[in-house]
Amino acid sequence: MVRDLREWIALLEREGELVRVSAEVDPHLEVTEIVDRTVRAGGPALLFERPKGSAIPLLINQFGTERRMCLAFGVESLDDVAAKLSAILELQPPEGLAAKVRGLKTLKSLADSRPKVVKRGVCQEVVLQGDDVDLGRLPVQTCWPGDAGPFITLPAVITRDPRTGERNVGMYRMQVLGPRSTAMHWQIHKDGRADYLFTEGRMEIAVALGLDPITAYSASAPLPKHIDELMVAGFLRGEPVELVKGVTVDLEVPADAEIVLEGYIDKGDLTTEGPFGDHTGFYTPAEQFPVFHVTAITMRQDAVYPSIVVGKPPQEDAWLGKATERIFLPAVKMTVPEIVDYDLPVAGAFHNLVIVSIKKAFPGHARKVMHAIWGLGQAMFSKCIVVVDEDVDVQNFNEVAWKALNNIDPERDIQFTMGPIDSLDHASRLPNYGSKMGIDATRKWSAEGFTRPWPAMLKQDPTVVARIDALWKKLGIE
Ligand SMILES: Cc1cc2nc3c(=O)[nH]c(=O)nc-3n(C[C@H](O)[C@H](O)[C@H](O)COP(=O)(O)O)c2cc1C
Repeated sequence: MVRDLREWIALLEREGELVRVSAEVDPHLEVTEIVDRTVRAGGPALLFERPKGSAIPLLINQFGTERRMCLAFGVESLDDVAAKLSAILELQPPEGLAAKVRGLKTLKSLADSRPKVVKRGVCQEVVLQGDDVDLGRLPVQTCWPGDAGPFITLPAVITRDPRTGERNVGMYRMQVLGPRSTAMHWQIHKDGRADYLFTEGRMEIAVALGLDPITAYSASAPLPKHIDELMVAGFLRGEPVELVKGVTVDLEVPADAEIVLEGYIDKGDLTTEGPFGDHTGFYTPAEQFPVFHVTAITMRQDAVYPSIVVGKPPQEDAWLGKATERIFLPAVKMTVPEIVDYDLPVAGAFHNLVIVSIKKAFPGHARKVMHAIWGLGQAMFSKCIVVVDEDVDVQNFNEVAWKALNNIDPERDIQFTMGPIDSLDHASRLPNYGSKMGIDATRKWSAEGFTRPWPAMLKQDPTVVARIDALWKKLGIE
């Protein structure tokens, strides 16, 4: 298990997956340009040792390829992470001793996943309070020329639900407003925002920067509100996340974090946030969001600052999204078991397009699945859903386009509906509200009113295939 960011950097380096950049580079636009080129080339993680204007090195592109994402989770394929979660989700009353022992082991691994509070944490080796707090010490990037300013891009923002005391960890960009304040861009549908809505007066917040990759990923995971992201991180790591009490807030923070920002938001204290270039590849406009006041910065000695660029896809966050797509498939299947597989193409910025294959069992089944997806957590943002039969490989875009487009009578097979829309969508008629489209690209049944014969797909006679196989080399074609 990778315990913290440093062990992760060391692992990346051993695996030939990290390049140290010793030249001075400006976090204002220059880092983005270098990272943009590196990500598109499938290149390495980058540790900028001399970001201009800061003594703190900047790590970026740590998640930028499938291989690194698998290294982060210690698996061969992201589906292996999903399999680990399935073992919990599909736990049945065991029959027989062997199954009971297996069941107990699984339950124990879950019980051991809860974060553990410890007395001391390296994240508090350096403690800055009062006038010493200066966010200007951090190499915070300004990514795109039209951005409103620098913003922290890879934070794990820790809040509590004032009603239940339950913790939430989310990843929300934080525009630096001054030495001791940032904006907090939690969108209207997010759990951090819900904690804020239920708060009266002052809300304490802690922000962890520079974590082991699984804990960092968990902040972006669309978990149900009552599930603690840090517990899921502990389960996926196979070791609990250790926490230590904050210095100026009554919240626990990851003990091994590189940097922690502590502070508060006063309800109703809003600022203009944005515009910022976002992962749609377009700028999202300025809006009102709460102001986060920083009461302390705590750090490790020789801290490293983690960053990420969001922009025209594909960028590094594509792999955070793909991890979510794969890891959440078993949980989605728990609710919608007829789903065989799905793909959220990176170019669709995840919420714009879902291609889903199903075992069709009754008339109108494809429409049932669309509505189930629109009712499922953050999958509610899905703008277009294409439903295909189980024989379509949804990971093969050409196959999807071929079969789906052949199978539809658009006027009959397209389902429009209205509902919540991703806050970043710039085309919906209103912010956060607009229309969605589902395409039923399954084979049509007579029970659905389709009375024409459905044609068979082309397939060569197997005896001819075998004959040509035997002849192939002699033909001199390749
Ligand atoms: C790099 C990155 C940046 C993100 N920035 C934001 C953001 O600024 N605001 C937001 O609401 N969600 C943002 N997200 C998505 C949230 O992190 C994600 O929806 C998460 O599940 C929210 O957690 P919550 O539901 O516990 O609030 C970002 C995700 C990534 C990977």
